[in-house]
Amino acid sequence: MIMSRRRLLLVWTILFIIVILTCIYLPIYEPKVKVQDPLVSLVATPSRNNDQKIYNITISHQVSQLRTTKTQPKKPTTIQLTKPTTAGPTKPKLCEPELLVGAVYCNKTVPRMQEVIEQLSVDYGGLTKKGGVFKPKGCIAKNKLAIIIPYRNRSEHLRIFLRHMHPIMQRQMHDYRIIVVEQAGNYSFNRAQLINIGFLEALNISDFECFVFHDVDHILENDKNDYGCPENPRLLGVSVDRFNRRFPYLRYFGGVGSFSKEQFEKINGYSNLFWGWGGEDDDAYNRIRGAGYSLSRPRADVGRYMMLKEHHFRDKPGGNRHMLLKTSTKRMYTDGLNSVKYEVLKKTEFPLYTHILAKLHEELDTTRNATDLIPTNAVAI
Ligand code: BGC
Repeated sequence: MIMSRRRLLLVWTILFIIVILTCIYLPIYEPKVKVQDPLVSLVATPSRNNDQKIYNITISHQVSQLRTTKTQPKKPTTIQLTKPTTAGPTKPKLCEPELLVGAVYCNKTVPRMQEVIEQLSVDYGGLTKKGGVFKPKGCIAKNKLAIIIPYRNRSEHLRIFLRHMHPIMQRQMHDYRIIVVEQAGNYSFNRAQLINIGFLEALNISDFECFVFHDVDHILENDKNDYGCPENPRLLGVSVDRFNRRFPYLRYFGGVGSFSKEQFEKINGYSNLFWGWGGEDDDAYNRIRGAGYSLSRPRADVGRYMMLKEHHFRDKPGGNRHMLLKTSTKRMYTDGLNSVKYEVLKKTEFPLYTHILAKLHEELDTTRNATDLIPTNAVAI
């Protein structure tokens, strides 16, 4: 009798343990679900045990959710891909640059162009497309930007510039193209005409809304200096090492400047009459003020540039520049975008920039004589 009671107790205890274990074990039991997808093959593990199970899987940088019905052993598991919580397609947002760092290191060593291409071009896994083009993905860039470089015989600077500027423009998340406008021939340099040509030719390529006119020897030292469309014409290069970080003079508009399309059209671009070094930027300042704009500038620590000094051959100063500056606002509606005469000799999309070789009509310049001609040793880019 005593034995049978003990046995009974044992049987009850075993039964009790089985019941307890069943209660604990059953709710947490889930079979592992094998997900086969053309893009991904992985094992998804359940995260909660409600009626519907949520699984997280990663497919090409995007988190998708898998939902299954409550799992019944031996029944096939139904898997359904669902969209994230909000219904309907999500609209792309305006791009917000989140990777800007402020002060940036300027590498002044001269690379070979092929090295820069291998660092930045899409052909080698980079982000820069043929022609020096970039467009952010997954968001809408605020504006379409053309960066125009008036150029001649500065191959070393161009390579340093491209290596430095593409990553910064991409962090700023601009939809942009870098256009190098090269002056053909040996006549003295006309920076302003090349700027006008760059503007007109850029608009033949695409519907750009903002323009930055950039000397190739100016290397940006702070990536927070925004190259997007300014509310007023904007001098971007405020603190330059060549001027000992001092702002040269109130009317200074050299180096790097930005405009919206409308602003540049309203001032009729730059004057075409400034041959040789200097004056054209002072004339542009007079036009900007003459058209009723005020000039905007970033803070000095943001508008900071280093000027490349090596491989720098400055053109002879333009002899008539002081005289021309007296008539800036009188000439501005007849001398500029609407009167520039040129011929595009060649247009090429290189991996990191668009190259436009232009012949200027120097014979229209009656104020110069043969002694003003300067020799140049043109070097292929
Ligand atoms: C010239 C400008 C130049 C400035 C700074 C002035 O005398 O006219 O073109 O940007 O000096 O070098």
